[in-house]
Amino acid sequence: MQRGHWGSRLGFILAATGSAVGLGNVWKFPYTVGNNGGGAFLIVYLAIVLTIGVSVMLAEFSIGRAAERSPVGAFSKLKGGYWPAAGFLGVIASFAILSFYSVVGGWTIAYIFKSASGLFATADAETLGGLFGGFISSTAEPLVYHAVFMALTMGVVLGGVHKGIERTCTVLLPMLFIILVILAIRSVTLPGAMEGLAFYLVPDFSKINADVVGNALGQAFFSLSLGMGALITYGSYLSHKENLSRAAIWVTLADMSVAVISGLVILPAVFAFGFDPTEGPGLVFITLPAVFGQMPAGVVFAVLFFMLLTIAALTSSVSLLEVVIAYLIDERKMRRAPAAIGAGTLIFIVGIACSLSMGVWSDFTIAGMNIFDFMDYSSSNVMLPVGGIAISLFVGWVILPRATQEATSQGTQPFVWVKGWQFICRYVAPIAIAWILISGI
Ligand code: PFF
Repeated sequence: MQRGHWGSRLGFILAATGSAVGLGNVWKFPYTVGNNGGGAFLIVYLAIVLTIGVSVMLAEFSIGRAAERSPVGAFSKLKGGYWPAAGFLGVIASFAILSFYSVVGGWTIAYIFKSASGLFATADAETLGGLFGGFISSTAEPLVYHAVFMALTMGVVLGGVHKGIERTCTVLLPMLFIILVILAIRSVTLPGAMEGLAFYLVPDFSKINADVVGNALGQAFFSLSLGMGALITYGSYLSHKENLSRAAIWVTLADMSVAVISGLVILPAVFAFGFDPTEGPGLVFITLPAVFGQMPAGVVFAVLFFMLLTIAALTSSVSLLEVVIAYLIDERKMRRAPAAIGAGTLIFIVGIACSLSMGVWSDFTIAGMNIFDFMDYSSSNVMLPVGGIAISLFVGWVILPRATQEATSQGTQPFVWVKGWQFICRYVAPIAIAWILISGI
């Protein structure tokens, strides 16, 4: 069967950036910073992203393009043995992540309509917190939006990812970026913003412990879409002309900037309006409406913002689903349509449990977490790092010459830090990730 290919060189970078930039940056990053002590977390996070993160990303691109197969098939084609298990782990991780991701994607869609209706025309912390809490803990309403988000994801994947995703990303990601910058300016100039800025930017190193480092690692993998083969899959649709190292740097920097700016939007506002930075998943949905309430034409901004966030979420969720689909197409010889509909429906069903665990099922816990948090924790903090170890060991020790050929396009596009990259794949990434994982347990 003829495999798909990206339409252009830039298209691939944009699609990979679309996968990376999503709810992880705008929704998850600020509250994770809040839960992990602020500035010190930011520094650990940036250090991990710029060393291990960018290197594992290049490793994934190289594996994908070398094999031109889904992650499971890529590991078996390039080596075999037990290695395809790493690809399977990715398929499971994508199930787990998409099940709660789609629920949050649904919340963003809901917030487009809720802000348009003028529901949030207040900056009162308690009112906004109550509205959000009431919404996500109700039974039917979030499920409807979860269904809509999942249907949109399936729709894009069904239509063939390439043109759809490439085009959407080209236009909308820059728009999201611009709106974030405008919001950041509004947020840091709010009266009382200083305290939040200090919390975010002035590191208090006494707050760093194993948990904080583990969470920074989990957040880095989640945000960069690493460790589960999404970028192996995207790399497998790539032409041999693309400069992989440049693409990895680009995508990493773009993703990192959106996360850092989102922190500048949310955290000063949190303090300015007297919210609690350790509020958790509600943080963005509660504080942002308060910021919009303080802006001229706030409603317009709110609607635009949640629309763009929905699209950013969609370009990520598509890449999550594509991991499962690529497996079913390449290894199980299914056609795209039944693969997308079947997998999407199953994930939707798991997502129902995630959504209900915010309300009627909140008493049901696994390892002390509700279903939603369990899916998040087990995927981000366990499966993705384990996948990251496998990917870096595979590139560093099993296929290093082949991977280096890919990363440098047969030596025609050498890059100055190739030795550093090899060193990180062989030693730094596997040892550091394993150490962080073990000390977290
Ligand atoms: N990187 C996405 C985000 O930050 O929202 C989430 C994600 C997409 C994680 C794809 C993993 C993945 F394979």
